[in-house]
Amino acid sequence: MITLIDIAYVRSGVADLDAATRFATDIVGLELAAPTEGGVSHLSADHRHHCLALVEGPSGVICSGFSVAGPDALAAAETELERSGFAVRRGSAGEARSRRVREFIAFDDPFGNQVELVSQQENITRPVAFTRPAGITEFGHLCLDAPDVHEAYRFWSTRFNARVSDWIGDAACLLRIDPVHHKLAVFRGEGPGLCHMNFQVASIDDVFRNWHFLVEHDVEIEMGPGRHPQSTAIFLYFLGPEGFTYEYSFGVRRIEDEATWIPRTFDPDEAGSIDMWLGPVSRPSSQPQLQPARTGSAAQ
Ligand SMILES: [Fe+2]
Repeated sequence: MITLIDIAYVRSGVADLDAATRFATDIVGLELAAPTEGGVSHLSADHRHHCLALVEGPSGVICSGFSVAGPDALAAAETELERSGFAVRRGSAGEARSRRVREFIAFDDPFGNQVELVSQQENITRPVAFTRPAGITEFGHLCLDAPDVHEAYRFWSTRFNARVSDWIGDAACLLRIDPVHHKLAVFRGEGPGLCHMNFQVASIDDVFRNWHFLVEHDVEIEMGPGRHPQSTAIFLYFLGPEGFTYEYSFGVRRIEDEATWIPRTFDPDEAGSIDMWLGPVSRPSSQPQLQPARTGSAAQ
């Protein structure tokens, strides 16, 4: 059993780095970290050095990173995955530096999503210099695609410490690795990909202010504002460049008492099962996973 202590980052390939970076800063509100590497924009939202890295190259998600407790936990995870038949790759020193982690390993989940486990992600302590006052408080969760969310649940709950918080029929599995209702979600999708990356905001007012801001700036709203009955979060999904979906949300449920929480199942076709406010519901679009042959360069 591999213990994930937190989500770490998303790395995404972009054909137009300037446009994607401008959207992440001027629209989403993230801070662009001081540039230290050509072709990579590191974007900050919280105590992590960055939680989103945009990498110049083919469009598509490169990988999603999760933290383990330290070098010993990382080595144990590497052994465990290899014994189970996964092809595990150790990141080079240059790749680790680009990720602002001391060490990492990379492997594909059974559905083709590239996952990285990292040790010692760099922290920052100064306040984040957000580009605009979107109210972001932290990187909230990430959502991967898999053709069968029940199989995905088996993978994440048997090899890792992920527990299911709620099911949305065969459409989604919401998983927690700490008291937050979900830091990892898996949505049903044809192939591997990143469905969306979530940022928590400080208040319901931020969600609605951001909604007006996005509409005024002609950003495509994919769903919301609405309220998910599972996590109770008030959500807003919107589409960034190159098929990358962002989400703001406020008010995610915390499950403090593991012993008494019983996962619930919601029928996605039932009114209110996705949005308690009964707004129009549509599945956020996913950014497809780049194939490893296209992500092999040291910069990525
Ligand atoms: Fe979400």
